[in-house]
Amino acid sequence: MASSILVTGGTGRLGTLVVGRLRAASESVRVLSRHAHGTDDGGARVIGDLATGAGVEAAVAGIRTVVHCAGNAKGDAAMTRTLVRAAQDAGVQHLVFISVVGAERVPVVSGVDRAVFGYFAAKRAAEQVVAESGIPYSTLRATQFQESMLAVVRQMAKSPVIPAPTGTRFQPVAVDEVAAALVELALGEPAGAVPDLGGPRAYLMADLIRGYLAATGRRRLFLPVRFPGAAAAAIRAGANLVPERAVGKQTWEELLAEQTAAP
Ligand SMILES: NC(=O)c1ccc[n+]([C@@H]2O[C@H](COP(=O)([O-])OP(=O)(O)OC[C@H]3O[C@@H](n4cnc5c(N)ncnc54)[C@H](OP(=O)(O)O)[C@@H]3O)[C@@H](O)[C@H]2O)c1
Repeated sequence: MASSILVTGGTGRLGTLVVGRLRAASESVRVLSRHAHGTDDGGARVIGDLATGAGVEAAVAGIRTVVHCAGNAKGDAAMTRTLVRAAQDAGVQHLVFISVVGAERVPVVSGVDRAVFGYFAAKRAAEQVVAESGIPYSTLRATQFQESMLAVVRQMAKSPVIPAPTGTRFQPVAVDEVAAALVELALGEPAGAVPDLGGPRAYLMADLIRGYLAATGRRRLFLPVRFPGAAAAAIRAGANLVPERAVGKQTWEELLAEQTAAP
């Protein structure tokens, strides 16, 4: 059967779960990746690079719906533009995009803003590329993925002294809940900008770290740090949070219990 749904970033943390859920729903799925090997995605892989455009035309050929989960620290808007151009030419009928809560609320003005929080502006620019593409679309903004936060916290906890940004809160959401929401969008009609998806609770960054340390029986010293700049101030004011959409189910404590349990 020819694939009808393309998942960009289908080898990543979110995309892998999206692909699994689409396949479980009996959809035929193609995955775009820069690499021939790596995560098992069931074989229907097209090699391509959204940064250079190589292979992208072939990846979207014959595709009805694109779920765009590919993301990079840099170049999100340019990558999305490349995808959109190819999708327009191929007659794609639905483009599903994952963005981040706060994309339009975190001001990225100075070099410091850009260095630490440029991600938000890049996602906002990519959202605009999608919205202005002329392709019917659905865009979902999610808060930080719990599993991504855990990877960061694990890394931080390797150091005997942990720099903890003061006043910074996160509302982590289980990545599989985001995958489920994206799949529901992909299988439905294009819905434009849909309501945000946030985790069940917001936590100070220091408390996320403390929870991990307690769950793994570690003790560390904390070094409070305060990032300068307008973007950091907006984050401290909660621009990355969406309390009115705290609809995620799994809590940080539940993730820790699952991920730090002895085998
Ligand atoms: N992590 C979070 O907390 C969070 C929160 C809200 C929204 N999001 C958004 O959700 C999406 C997925 O995040 P994630 O954490 O699952 O990412 P991830 O695990 O880092 O995966 C990134 C994916 O992007 C693909 N990719 C990167 N550069 C590419 C390029 N030049 N051409 C083609 N593919 C490329 C990678 O594929 P290959 O390496 O196989 O080529 C990989 O599958 C991103 O758009 C991210 O901005 C993330």
